[in-house]
Amino acid sequence: MNQTLTLRRPDDWHLHLRDGAMLKAVLPETARDFARAIIMPNLVPPVVTSADAIAYRDRILAALPEGADFTPLMTLYLTEATDPADVVAAHASGLISAVKLYPAGATTNSASGVRDFDKVRPVLEAMAEAGLPLCVHGEVTREEIDIFDREAVFIEEVLDPIRRATPGLRVVMEHITTADACAYVKESDGSLGATITTHHLMINRNHILVGGIKPHYYCLPVAKRESHRAALVELATSGFEHVFLGTDSAPHTQANKECACGCAGVFSASVTMPCLAQVFDEAGALDKLEAFASLNGPAFYRLPPNETTITLEKGQVLEIPAPLETGDGPVIVFDPGKPVLWSVRRD
Ligand code: DOR
Ligand code: ZN
Repeated sequence: MNQTLTLRRPDDWHLHLRDGAMLKAVLPETARDFARAIIMPNLVPPVVTSADAIAYRDRILAALPEGADFTPLMTLYLTEATDPADVVAAHASGLISAVKLYPAGATTNSASGVRDFDKVRPVLEAMAEAGLPLCVHGEVTREEIDIFDREAVFIEEVLDPIRRATPGLRVVMEHITTADACAYVKESDGSLGATITTHHLMINRNHILVGGIKPHYYCLPVAKRESHRAALVELATSGFEHVFLGTDSAPHTQANKECACGCAGVFSASVTMPCLAQVFDEAGALDKLEAFASLNGPAFYRLPPNETTITLEKGQVLEIPAPLETGDGPVIVFDPGKPVLWSVRRD
């Protein structure tokens, strides 16, 4: 008999769905295994106001396959012009679950992000008061800072000062990639959570650069050296309650990845749960996978965990799916480059 593992249905606390034909193609890949996801607002143009979020949520719901059991948890994109009253009202009505902070220029479609953090102070204070989480892309963007140091510098120069200046502000440090971020989260109180992606648990920077450049492993924050990956695995598999899954599954077409200036993003939605089972199995921590994927996130977001379950099964080597065909072109699915012995049982 194959080994099986049944978990409460997981949620994805950081997901890019895009819009239009891409949304239609990628949404079923998430809705198959996940009950809820925090939806990133970095569309072109971004999801900035309540009205934008309502319209985007409606487009997501309309793109769901029939019978799917999936709830998009919406976010607003923080700009220097964001109106605190709009944010608070969007939260009070249940429309949004978080606000997203992109430092301007940090990543895909972040040009409207924040340059001067003092300008968003009134929004952050209103959010602290309302208990509304701020999701943070934690990288500085100063040209002189090495790309591999941008997360650690952000913690010291931006994140820690913001948290000190805004007591009570609930923050999720997203897609953490360094031992520095792991240490910072572990020593913080319960107002700070962190997400970790599937791919950052499986690849380091050698995967991107050794033996030829691998654009499908390129994302932001960029994967760091092996000791950082090991720290992420240790934290994720420890059961630590303020750390949870956020895949940052971020589809770009093959053409936009395989070119002279390829986009950042790894599309992992289709294979995340088998990959995570592999990581937790190798760490001897299968008993902690449910906390990471299904329990810690809802606890941070003050939502009940899901009542339904999924079952993972160990046996055959997982076949990485063929490129996902979208109306915009094919999207390559994350391949960790090593055998994954787990799959999701589909009865
Ligand atoms: O790799 C990434 N891709 N990192 C981000 O922060 C954004 C994302 C995207 O939207 O493609
Ligand atoms: Zn992202």
